[in-house]
Amino acid sequence: MKTFFETPLTQLDIVNRFRSDLITTPEGNFHALPDMQPYINHDAQFSRPAVQLQPGIFLDKEAAGISPLHENGIASCDFRLRPVHRLGREDSHNLVFFGHLVLQDRSRKAFAETEVAVKPIKKVKEGLGELAMFQYMRSLGIPTFRPIAFSKHSDTAYLMTEFDRPVNTMDTVEWHELDRDEKWQQVGLGVSTLALLHSNMLFHGDAEFKNIAFNDIGEIVIVDPEFMISARGIAEALQGVRMNRALDQDEATDLGWIKRKMSNDFTNLCRSVNRYVIGINAQDRRRPHATAIFKQYRKHIYLPYRKELYNIGSSYLPLLDRAYNELLIDRKEQSKQDII
Ligand SMILES: Nc1ncnc2c1ncn2[C@@H]1O[C@H](COP(=O)(O)OP(=O)(O)O)[C@@H](O)[C@H]1O
Ligand SMILES: [Mg+2]
Repeated sequence: MKTFFETPLTQLDIVNRFRSDLITTPEGNFHALPDMQPYINHDAQFSRPAVQLQPGIFLDKEAAGISPLHENGIASCDFRLRPVHRLGREDSHNLVFFGHLVLQDRSRKAFAETEVAVKPIKKVKEGLGELAMFQYMRSLGIPTFRPIAFSKHSDTAYLMTEFDRPVNTMDTVEWHELDRDEKWQQVGLGVSTLALLHSNMLFHGDAEFKNIAFNDIGEIVIVDPEFMISARGIAEALQGVRMNRALDQDEATDLGWIKRKMSNDFTNLCRSVNRYVIGINAQDRRRPHATAIFKQYRKHIYLPYRKELYNIGSSYLPLLDRAYNELLIDRKEQSKQDII
């Protein structure tokens, strides 16, 4: 049998598979959405939980609309596609789609209809990992989507989040309408996104403009934590270490992890900046020398990032500051060798 990702499926095929999964859920077989946070690895490693789930639908019973239904028990569940929401989100690598989750209680009288985004994820454990990160971010007070439901079909996970209509990503900004200053100002959202995550020892892992998001009043919203990792464990181990002295080998290795993850996020952000703001790509022979580009990064990305770290005032600040300083020295050296 062909699996979900082996064949190119139309939107309707996906919805039909998803609906059949919902319909075959035995009556009353709606489990509570599990708390996946205890499975998060905090040692800067990308590892996702291999937890066996029973078949059925897992619901956030506390979510608006859903909680009252639980008094009588939920009897049925349906999904209605709303393709219109896909506008501007067509680049979605995982074919995220949008619709309504419709629930009915056992009395057959009460309904709940929630607008949701459905993200099909290739491996169930990766879906659970993403769910864990959403839950963890929310527990830290980081603005992000609310997970509403989880289900699987063969080895594909479906992670449903509450649809947040005003959220837009940086790749949908009308860049050609902005002047240079306005473009750099917009990049500030990416800088704030990294500063907020890093202050919590979280590293996005895919911080390109398509995954830097903001709402209608210009506040950042963290999206797509598919590759997100936490380094809190490492950070706590280094917490008592004075960061202004030479580190021993183990400490240096731990700090190296943080630096690498930080660096990876900057690399992704800068890749989008090159494309949307500076208008270059690394293969372009006529591009400016890397030292000139580095100067722009320093002014508009690195220095504002550090300022923002201080504004946020994380308890990991000495550690972040040291990683940042070392990273900046590396980047400056690389730019002299014309590496961007
Ligand atoms: N709950 C939601 N509300 C509004 N937009 C959403 C929601 N979930 C995902 N999106 C948007 O859908 C797009 C694809 O989601 P994303 O998690 O980035 O998946 P992919 O891995 O396919 O890139 C992004 O623009 C994201 O902002
Ligand atoms: Mg994405």
